[in-house]
Amino acid sequence: MNKFHAMFLLICATTADLYNDCNDPNWHSLETLENAKVECGPSFENRCYCLRTCYENRHQYVVNCTNSGFSDVTPLSHLPNETQVLIFTGNYLEELPWNVFGTLDSLPYLRMIDMSNNRIREIRGKSYHHVQRVERLILDFNELSLDPARSHPRVFSNFVSLLELHLTDAFEDGLSRDLAATLHDIFVNSNLTQLIKLHLEQNEISEFRDSNVFCDLPNLLDLYLGDNTLTALHFNISCLHKLRFLDLQRNKFTKVVEHDLQAMDALIKHNQSIAIDFTGNPLECSCKLNPFIKWMKKTKVFVRNKDNLMCYKNGTPHEIYETKNCTPRLFSPTPRGATVLLFFLSIVLIGLVCALIYVQRTKLQKKIEPILDSMNKRVRYTSIAVGDTREDL
Ligand SMILES: *[C@@H]1O[C@H](CO)[C@@H](O)[C@H](O)[C@H]1NC(C)=O
Ligand SMILES: *[C@@H]1O[C@H](CO)[C@@H](O)[C@H](O)[C@H]1NC(C)=O
Ligand SMILES: *[C@@H]1O[C@H](CO)[C@@H](O)[C@H](O)[C@H]1NC(C)=O
Ligand SMILES: *[C@@H]1O[C@H](CO)[C@@H](O)[C@H](O)[C@H]1NC(C)=O
Ligand SMILES: *[C@@H]1O[C@H](CO)[C@@H](O)[C@H](O)[C@H]1NC(C)=O
Repeated sequence: MNKFHAMFLLICATTADLYNDCNDPNWHSLETLENAKVECGPSFENRCYCLRTCYENRHQYVVNCTNSGFSDVTPLSHLPNETQVLIFTGNYLEELPWNVFGTLDSLPYLRMIDMSNNRIREIRGKSYHHVQRVERLILDFNELSLDPARSHPRVFSNFVSLLELHLTDAFEDGLSRDLAATLHDIFVNSNLTQLIKLHLEQNEISEFRDSNVFCDLPNLLDLYLGDNTLTALHFNISCLHKLRFLDLQRNKFTKVVEHDLQAMDALIKHNQSIAIDFTGNPLECSCKLNPFIKWMKKTKVFVRNKDNLMCYKNGTPHEIYETKNCTPRLFSPTPRGATVLLFFLSIVLIGLVCALIYVQRTKLQKKIEPILDSMNKRVRYTSIAVGDTREDL
């Protein structure tokens, strides 16, 4: 391709952006679609469509290999060089070799890669090269390995322009701890400084090895952690200076601890407007939920679906409410707690009485002696009296 050709493509792309007549999605005739199969080139074996079409309200050059039965990525090193959107989903890939897109930097317009649902287990550190202009990468529904020998922390290191990373259910099932370690290594080793959206839903995340796991993503706006098993934040949000939405739907929060409430308020203090979504968590209708309810009434954090939040008591959902008669923790309202407390207090009381008696023993002795004396006398008198009567008999 000469310079003029490249310029022509660029002008076309720009013109297409200006004329967003993307209203009719079914404007492709059968003939166009047949042509689109051939247009991909011989490596694609007529299994894909390559055409300029309406994608996300813009005319873009799309290569679409959906459920096309490929078991390796060979065709991807022969992508038409005007490709802007690559959809390569529903195939069977297992392992991505080095240089998926070939060794030449021949895809100057590539902006979006969707490689979800390909049963990918391993992505080599050198798989993705020449992707420095890609803005969105989707790897949902794969089986990425958590085995340190097969997970390569530098997988995303070449995506220097990445704005959105989708990793919904992207990892194999395994220990949450291993996933935490893998994520940590990936974010520390990749240079995702531009990233604004991160999707990590449905990954069974219950903890993060390093609370600063997201701190290498300084531009993050939206963090999606829905459908995981988090019970608290477990990660530092104070380093996410731009965070505007935190999705925590359907996790395992039974309450929200004071520490997390303060952390969210701290963001507001830095003039950040932040929204959070706790919908679908198994909140417990109990005293422990009160701090969260009180917080919601006064915080400037926007709690999405606040009015639809539910709490659970004996398995039944209730509209969220503040539990009354919550005594401080020491006076725990459970019967067992009360018994323990009573026992404890009795011991203390007995101890105190003993101590008092010991300390005041001399005074007490003085006070008690006369009483004892008089009692003794009375006893004597009585016995004498009894003796007298006997004598009288
Ligand atoms: C684009 O592809 C054509 C062949 O289809 C090739 O001749 C040209 O060199 C390529 N351009 C770039 C920039 O790689
Ligand atoms: C890609 O192809 C699949 C089936 O071949 C089709 O259902 C889907 O709508 C296509 N996607 C786009 C963005 O054209
Ligand atoms: C990360 O990317 C920036 C530019 O976006 C670059 O200046 C920096 O050197 C990169 N760092 C690493 C460790 O690759
Ligand atoms: C959280 O991040 C902030 C800002 O980067 C840092 O000052 C703080 O020490 C971090 N907290 C923890 C517990 O690592
Ligand atoms: C927050 O914004 C207000 C006005 O919107 C401004 O007066 C204040 O200085 C800002 N505070 C910080 C910490 O940036």
